[in-house]
Amino acid sequence: MNNNSSSPIGIFDSGVGGLTVARAVMERLPRESVLYFGDTARVPYGVKSQDIISRYAVEIAKFLLEKRVKMLIIACNTMAAVAYDAVRALSGVPVLEVIDAGARTAVAHTRNHRIGIIATPSTTSSGAYLQAIQRYEHDGMFITTQACPLFVPLVEEGWTDHPVTRLTAFEYLTPLLAQNIDTLVLGCTHYPLLKPMLQSVMGPGVQLVDSAEAISLRAEALLREMDLENASGEPPRHVFHVTDVPHRFQEVGERFLGRPLDQVELVSL
Ligand code: DGL
Repeated sequence: MNNNSSSPIGIFDSGVGGLTVARAVMERLPRESVLYFGDTARVPYGVKSQDIISRYAVEIAKFLLEKRVKMLIIACNTMAAVAYDAVRALSGVPVLEVIDAGARTAVAHTRNHRIGIIATPSTTSSGAYLQAIQRYEHDGMFITTQACPLFVPLVEEGWTDHPVTRLTAFEYLTPLLAQNIDTLVLGCTHYPLLKPMLQSVMGPGVQLVDSAEAISLRAEALLREMDLENASGEPPRHVFHVTDVPHRFQEVGERFLGRPLDQVELVSL
């Protein structure tokens, strides 16, 4: 257990997508330092097998634990769906993950008890969102899931407001529209960047749940509860570890993070 409140929060993802979570955490907890890990050399995880995803997640978590983080946040829905238990088993620090946070928020928001989940194929086939929602509410809840594998490359390409993406969104979301859901969980790190488009396709009657926002609220509450808030008065220091610096990394990363991406360190596991 690392009880040092001035230690950083470790946030990890398969690539740059988790920067949407880092951004929400930095905005909500401006005094906290963040140590981010993006496995940019091996992304995407969303179409990989469960064994491989678990193995990679454990490698990353060990790396961050060695850096003495005080809390781990699994920003990647795909890793959270299949590797949460394996990561928790490693660690004496609190481990938060996006699926539980998103599920909780969705249950709190829905009025008609009809929730849609969009995510990568690995996340939808794991059933993790279904289980998480049922943990909070199991009576009379209708849940429908839709894998949207093309959204990740479209967002990485920067096509967040592009006719091809709109057409793809219609294709994926039409079955959900027909189910009369009132809440849609954005179950993938990349989807918050598509919020305006997804909202316009789903219409104003559907509330979008952004796990990035939900998890930053959980992190804030847990740090307070555990007396782990940074009270040192030192300015926060954010470091971004990546396993590759791919084409357009800086530009795409800064779009996700919403601020300049400096302090990038290339590492291998
Ligand atoms: N980070 C992944 C997720 O949230 C999306 C990218 C990938 O497939 O690795 O599910």
